[in-house]
Parts: sequence; structure tokens; C-alpha cells
Amino acid sequence: MTMKWWQRSVFYQIYPRSFADQNGDGIGDFAGMAAKLDYLHRLGVDAIWLSPHFPSPFLDCGYDISDYTGVAPEYGTIEEFSHFLQQAHTRGIRVILDLVLNHTSDQHPWFRESRSSRDNPRRDWYIWRDGRDGGPPNNWAAIFGGSAWQLDPTTGQYYYHAFLPEQPDLNWRNPEVKAALWSVVRFWLDLGVDGFRLDAIATIFEHPELPDHTLAVSPDAIVDANELPWDDYWQLLHFQLHQPGLHELMQELRALVDSYPGDRVLIGEDEQVAFHGSGDDELHLVFNFPLMRTERLTPAHIRANQAQRLAELPPGAWPCNTLGNHDSPRVWSRYGDGTHDAALARLHLALLLTLKGTPVLYYGEEIGMANLELSDPGQLRDTTAIRRYRMLTEREGVAPQAAMGLVAASTRDRCRSPMQWNSTPNAGFCPPEAHPWLPVHPNHRLGVSVADQEGDPGSLLSFYRHLLGLRRATPALVSGDYQLLDPESEAYLAFTRRDPASGQTCLVLLNFTPAQLTPGIDPGALRGRLLFSSTGRPDHELTLHDLTLTPFEVLIAELLEAEPRTRN
Ligand code: GLC
Ligand code: CA
Repeated sequence: MTMKWWQRSVFYQIYPRSFADQNGDGIGDFAGMAAKLDYLHRLGVDAIWLSPHFPSPFLDCGYDISDYTGVAPEYGTIEEFSHFLQQAHTRGIRVILDLVLNHTSDQHPWFRESRSSRDNPRRDWYIWRDGRDGGPPNNWAAIFGGSAWQLDPTTGQYYYHAFLPEQPDLNWRNPEVKAALWSVVRFWLDLGVDGFRLDAIATIFEHPELPDHTLAVSPDAIVDANELPWDDYWQLLHFQLHQPGLHELMQELRALVDSYPGDRVLIGEDEQVAFHGSGDDELHLVFNFPLMRTERLTPAHIRANQAQRLAELPPGAWPCNTLGNHDSPRVWSRYGDGTHDAALARLHLALLLTLKGTPVLYYGEEIGMANLELSDPGQLRDTTAIRRYRMLTEREGVAPQAAMGLVAASTRDRCRSPMQWNSTPNAGFCPPEAHPWLPVHPNHRLGVSVADQEGDPGSLLSFYRHLLGLRRATPALVSGDYQLLDPESEAYLAFTRRDPASGQTCLVLLNFTPAQLTPGIDPGALRGRLLFSSTGRPDHELTLHDLTLTPFEVLIAELLEAEPRTRN
């Protein structure tokens, strides 16, 4: 089977607001992003996933769209978008967009019309219901807290929102809605984009009869459903997620995308492998989020994750691994231990680039950007965090400073701070006299910047470049099968990637401890050719049976002379 581009590629997520500000208004823009394409090309990524770049009131940082076929004016114009796309393509970099199908902004003209009267032709484009006993139609909660229903005084009915009240859900059972969104999809495909990351697909349909959920909790007590224990989350949202019709809809979207040349790709923001359909008739990729769902990336966790994930994928489906995005803490901070963060960051990248599947990186990860620590509520930009702060201080009587501490430790603003290009004030993201939309992390002065790491062969950035280059040049790391070598060790991870087409087999050894160790593994060969070692071993050929790993070593070798195995 020949591999598709999206199976071979490494994706890099850009949060447009935070990447590079060219016009000095403190907000990233397309001119800025275009100017950084050479950087991304040199880094060695193959594709960009752009978080939403559409006009938006930015209550959910662009995931509240008020015009699906436009460009946010602060980011630029459609011409600048096209220029960016064309410049990316010139460098062999593909670009996928963020497609938010579930909801619009409440400022979208469709919703303004819909809410204007009960008999407006767009009334049924959203989900309107009468209240019950003087309250909302049922006990459903919004994922971002509070009731999922908002009373609209103009018409006296409630509308449904899975997320913020400013993000009303579209009614996907209305064929006009579907037609309108499919023409949005065509608009961008016609412009030449290479596919879409599909936002929050699980929320597209709701149970039509609106049955009450059975979790004993009031919607007002929920601040962010994502923080509930797993079972409670599913019980709470039982009738709001993964409703019938979803897979048929995704198949329809796939057929639409497939009607374009060039293998355009669909990546679902979901972890359920059911979205692969029968392997090749629904979404191309869904994220392996369970890999991220842990405090520490231990060998045991990774092994269990891979065993389960690879077993449950339907034949023909391809994995997709990631460790960070705009909704989760920075990889550096989340999986670091406070002492060996730099070594762990290298190990975690090596993991992502050597596991089977398409890796998705998040901007700034390559220089070790850490969680932004905010101390002043006025700096918060994520509406969910602002709501939490208000709830804590106004409803629960928590003192402002303590409340801010709690919010600072959970806000999504932590991972959205401006990209750190150099060590000057504002980190080269915007001019020194400008006011960036979120503060720049102070560690841009302490070596966490592109300029500081660029020429340093020992930097994290150099490590990223090196490993991305190695992956690209090593067929087994891209397309090989994954075979675990040690089912037990708490200290290291050992596996091979075997590519039948090229005959190449690579051995990957990752030492997760600060101690030297000798893995007791049998990779099926006595000798290996060293492809990479994070400790810079001098030898080109390795004897594999008594190999000793240095602390936190990443070692990748190509197996030589596979030994014929004898059964006895
Ligand atoms: C997705 C996005 C998140 C957004 C939510 C609602 O989960 O990743 O940032 O807030 O959808 O659109
Ligand atoms: Ca700007």
C-alpha cells in the first residue's frame, strides 16, 4: 500500500492569534505567519493545522465564528490568506483549517435572524424549545458550565448551546443547515486548502426528545464538564454527545472531500475509532487523546495505550498521536517533573515521532515553551476562565487572590501565549512597544526562544530539527509496524518499527529514568547501525545484546542482519 501524504506528514498546529504579529497590534496575523514559513520549513514539518482564522467576537478564541468564508480582519484579508496558503504550498507544506460545524457565534447573521422571531425562515437553523415549569426545557448542562439552554427574551423561547451561551448550536437535522455548511467546505477546498480538523464533532446532534440526564448534579454547579470524573462526564452528557446520525453525516462529508483531487484530509477532534468507519469511508484520522490523559508519560501507560489503540483501530485506519494543543497545558509543564524537564521534553518528542501514526505538534513546543502563569484576572482571555473566576469570587465567596490562583492553574490561556522568537521585549512576536493580546512568557529572556536555540546544536530546537529530519529519511519510522519488545519495564520503552516495503527495521529505546540501565531485550538482531542517540555515541555500529543506555537516552538504530529465529 502506498502511504498517503497525511500518513507520512508531521503536523504543526498554529494558533493564529499567537504566532507572529506583523502589523504591531499585538495580535498574530497572516502576514506574520507567512513570514515564518521558512522557519517551519527548516524545522521540518510537513503540514500546518490552523486554529480558526475566521471573523469572530473571540469569546471562545475564534471557535465562535461569525462568518465562515471570511478572514478575521485583525488577521488580514482573504488575499493574505491565499498568499499564505500559496507560500506554504511552494515550500511543500500543506495547510488544513479548523472547521467548527456544531455551533456559530451568536453574532453570526444566521443566528441574528433566527432569534429575531419565531417564524423567521432561519428559526429552525438553531435549536429552539419552550421552557418547562418556568425554567429551561430540561436539565442538560453546557460543557463550559451552567444550563445548556439560554432564554431569549425576544421570543420567549430557549436555544441550546453545547458550549458557551454565545455559541448557539446549529440544528443539523435541518437540510438547509447542512447545505450551507457543505458550501463552506467547498469554498475553502476550492481555494486549495488540504483538509480540515473537525472541531467538537461529538456534539453535532442532540437526542431529539431531550430526555433529562440522570446525574445528580445541577447544571449551575458545573464549571467545565471536562473536569468531571470520566463516568460522570458521560452520564451528564449522555443525550448530548455521539447521537445517531453522526457517522452518516461524517461519511457524507468524506464523500464531499473525496470529490476533490489531492487526498484532502479530515481529522476529527475525537478519540473514538468508530469515526474511521470501515477504515476508509469516514474520517482519515482521529486523535489518540487517551495517550495524553495521564499525569506522567510512563512506559507502562504508553505500552497500555498502544496495545489498546492499535488493537481497536479498524483495518486500514491510521493512528494519530499528539501530546499538546490549545486546550491543554504545555507539554513541557504537564509532563515535566520540575527537575529533568529538558530531558523529558526530548524523550516525549522522540516518542511522538517514533510511535506508529501521524504526529501532531503544537507551536512553541519545539523550544520548550512552558505554561504561562497569570496573576491578574484582567489578563485572562479565555472566557471559560473568566466565568470560573466570577463564579468562585461572586458565588462561592473565594478571596480574589485565591480564586485567581485556582483559575491561573487551569485556564487555557496558559498554553496560548505568544510564540517566543527572540529574547527582546515581547519576544519578537510583536514590536517592543506593542501590547500583546496575552502576556509573553518571561522565560523568553532565559533561553526559551528560537533565536537563542537556533545556532546551538545542544538545544531543544536543534533536537526537534534533527529528529524530524531523521524521521523523514527513515521509512521504518514512518510506515513500519510497531512491535513492543519489553512488556514490563517501568524504566524504559523498547520497540521496533518494521517496514516490509523497504525491508528496514528500526529499534527504538527510550530511557525514562535519570539512571543508566541495560535493557534486557532481544530485538531479533545482534548488531545495529546507530541512527540517533541523544547522548551522541561515537560508535556507528552497536552490539545490541549488552547495550547500556545513559540517563534519559533516546536511541534509534537500524537492525542489521536479522537473525533467523528457531522454534524449539
Ligand atoms: C473544541 C476546541 C475548543 C473549543 C470548543 C468549542 O474543543 O478545541 O478550543 O472551545 O471546541 O468550540
Ligand atoms: Ca497583528
